[in-house]
Amino acid sequence: MPDTTPDTTPDTTLGAKKGRTVLRLTNATLRFGGLTALNDVSFEINEGEIFGLIGPNGAGKTTCFNAMTGVYALTSGTIEFEGNDLAGRKRHKITKLGMARTFQNIRLFKSMTALENVMVGADVHSKVSFFEALFRLPRHRTTEAEALERARELLNLVGIEGRHDELAANLSYGDQRRLEIARAMATKPTLLCLDEPAAGFNPAEKQRLMDLIRKLRDRGVTVLLIEHDMRLVMGVTDRIVVLEFGRKIAEGTPAEIRDNPAVIAAYLGVEEEDAS
Ligand SMILES: Nc1ncnc2c1ncn2[C@@H]1O[C@H](COP(=O)(O)OP(=O)(O)OP(=O)(O)O)[C@@H](O)[C@H]1O
Ligand SMILES: [Mg+2]
Repeated sequence: MPDTTPDTTPDTTLGAKKGRTVLRLTNATLRFGGLTALNDVSFEINEGEIFGLIGPNGAGKTTCFNAMTGVYALTSGTIEFEGNDLAGRKRHKITKLGMARTFQNIRLFKSMTALENVMVGADVHSKVSFFEALFRLPRHRTTEAEALERARELLNLVGIEGRHDELAANLSYGDQRRLEIARAMATKPTLLCLDEPAAGFNPAEKQRLMDLIRKLRDRGVTVLLIEHDMRLVMGVTDRIVVLEFGRKIAEGTPAEIRDNPAVIAAYLGVEEEDAS
């Protein structure tokens, strides 16, 4: 008799082990007029991975995020997330499915507090009906209290302790970047996509960000990271895909990518110092 007992052993090897596929791009192509920003790109991200998406400026990295999150429709090919074909899905539906992102250029509600920004993220899954909210019925109060507690916890997790009630506009640049991560996390994502989260960071802040990314993964979130800083990418990711002029030119572990001649020629060659 085969053993059908469910395996309840806690998974302590997240990231090292190949989990189920969370995201799958198959021959993804996206054209802007005559420019092919994504050209026949295929890759898969598995549950629990920290996955790097790198490549020179204009390689198509942000376009890839935009296609994944429903900002642009693919010209051809498919993107599947958690087994769902994302074709034609609206942005908020994709968020509800469990995909969250931050932006290369910070997008916060500047005149709202840090806490309020995170609460906006939490709203995606609000199950409170209009009437419950209007009359502030008990379920509404509980849900709001829970969301508040979670928002505060997320702000502390990303390192914005003591500044929860500060307007987003008044936070330091680094805190604004971290606040974006907290807001994305408030949507309870399975897959968190970070578009150059360390841009403008000093080495100490980059180190803290690497620790944070690992912490998020240890909480069960799969992470897709666009980043130019090679030390950070090589230090934190499990696998990497390299784009150049919209094409995938390499895929592998950080060690494999570092030694790949095509990658060195396309990208690392120009930043050899960072790559070492
Ligand atoms: N909405 C758009 N309309 C036309 N062209 C676009 C659009 N968005 C991006 N592009 C072009 O697509 C290509 C890929 O851009 P993308 O922003 O994805 O690059 P990237 O890899 O994120 O670069 P960077 O590292 O500089 O952020 C570029 O040539 C860019 O000019
Ligand atoms: Mg970009």
